[in-house]
Amino acid sequence: MDKKISLPVITPDGRPPEAQPKWRHDFPIDVPEADYVARRDFTKFMVLTSFAFVIGQFWIGLKRAFRRESAGTSAQRIASVAAVPVGGAVSFSFPKPNDACLLMRTGTDDFVAYSAKCTHLSCAVLPDVKNNALRCPCHNGLFDLATGRPLAGPPRRPLPRIRIEVREGEIYAMAVEERMT
Ligand code: FES
Repeated sequence: MDKKISLPVITPDGRPPEAQPKWRHDFPIDVPEADYVARRDFTKFMVLTSFAFVIGQFWIGLKRAFRRESAGTSAQRIASVAAVPVGGAVSFSFPKPNDACLLMRTGTDDFVAYSAKCTHLSCAVLPDVKNNALRCPCHNGLFDLATGRPLAGPPRRPLPRIRIEVREGEIYAMAVEERMT
């Protein structure tokens, strides 16, 4: 007498259980169940990926908030007004020793300061006060001297602005102003 076939109704090749080879009775595959597990795994993967993405965004936000806060804690002297001629530039570090920045004198009483790190791939930007610009030599990035906004080349974000104050003939860096536009 034939052994009773216990394969699932939907077989992998679509033929009826009676037409299946003998080995398939020993290793039956439930196609709908296998598909269901695959969908469940995919859903699990998507949920975990989304969760990791949310955590990453949260971490970036926290870091930015912390950096903004620590950047604004104490004033740092950059130079005396007399030491920077009109049209001249001075490099300095703020708020940390490896955060390169540039101070430029655009008029008798006008100064602007920015982070010197290009917002494209972090090359050092160079002042071009005569042409009201800052230039990045790496990929010909160009920034507006008055606003720090990108004018040409690959950079899409403005340079972080350094808020400065002039007190009794001395110029101080006060805070870093991160901007997205
Ligand atoms: S790093 Fe400045 S333009 Fe690319």
